[in-house]
Amino acid sequence: MAEAFDGAGLPIAKADRYAGLAVEIASVLEGEPDQTARMATVAAMLTQAFAAFLWCGFYVADAAKRDELVVGPYQGTLGCLRIDFGRGVCGTAALERRTVIVPDVAAFPGHIACDARSRSEIVVPVLDRAGALIAVLDVDSADLAAFDETDAAGLEAIVRQVFGADLAQERR
Ligand code: SME
Repeated sequence: MAEAFDGAGLPIAKADRYAGLAVEIASVLEGEPDQTARMATVAAMLTQAFAAFLWCGFYVADAAKRDELVVGPYQGTLGCLRIDFGRGVCGTAALERRTVIVPDVAAFPGHIACDARSRSEIVVPVLDRAGALIAVLDVDSADLAAFDETDAAGLEAIVRQVFGADLAQERR
């Protein structure tokens, strides 16, 4: 069983905090190939590590429906269930396969408001080892402009490590 984790031992500086968290996540997930378990663990540990994260979780590319995301593991208030590619911040990140940083959600055309307290947002595409889009990681904050390039780099590194790595090799 994983030991208790509350992020208390992580460095304060944001880039260092992401790097330290990546090490902790790799340690907890060692030998666990299940995608749902991986997503749930990443969402929980990110939420514990960053107090500013109001909503944090995954929208997964639905294998049964083309160009549609369906909600996956998350921490936060009730999220909408499905998002078409191209719609909202998540759908834009999925369609364009790029990280989208929204400093003010009120200024983003088509933003989908799941939690009315959300003021800013970052969405990072999640690719598998073959480069296929498997999900997006969505993080919301109650603060304006909570996310910057350091968050983008930190979150991208974590999803690359957890979902882009060769799981079979990792288990060896
Ligand atoms: N705001 C997102 C929708 C998901 S919720 O924030 C959990 C969007 O515009 O894609």
